Amino acid sequence: MFNIYSKKVIDHFKNPRNMGEMMDADAVGEVGNPTCGDLIYIYIKVKDNIIKDISFQTFGCGAAIATSSMITELAKGKTLDEGLEIKRTDVANALDGLPPIKLHCSNLAADGLHKAINNYRMEKKDKDNAVK
Ligand code: FES
Repeated sequence: MFNIYSKKVIDHFKNPRNMGEMMDADAVGEVGNPTCGDLIYIYIKVKDNIIKDISFQTFGCGAAIATSSMITELAKGKTLDEGLEIKRTDVANALDGLPPIKLHCSNLAADGLHKAINNYRMEKKDKDNAVK
């Protein structure tokens, strides 16, 4: 059988963690890729500077769903600063790699998280720590 994906990617695609819209989210990060048309929303709930809850909605390919799922696992329980330190490559590495043509999918997930954190800081008037 032709398969270019790791077992972890397939697992997160078939059994996505923390999937779904969060109605009472404190902030949302929305990112899209105009080339492939994929769109990711990352929702966060924050308490005492910690990402207490996180979920995602992804309209996109299997790798985008798997990377979205993985980033929710990587970010949950982290501080906002630690969340910002999760890099695009961390997501792909945590999934035991992605095919080169699918690396941009992990960029979307990481960018979505960073945007959600930044939006939270902007909305909560923590503007000193927000990236303008
Ligand atoms: Fe674009 Fe996966 S093909 S996010």
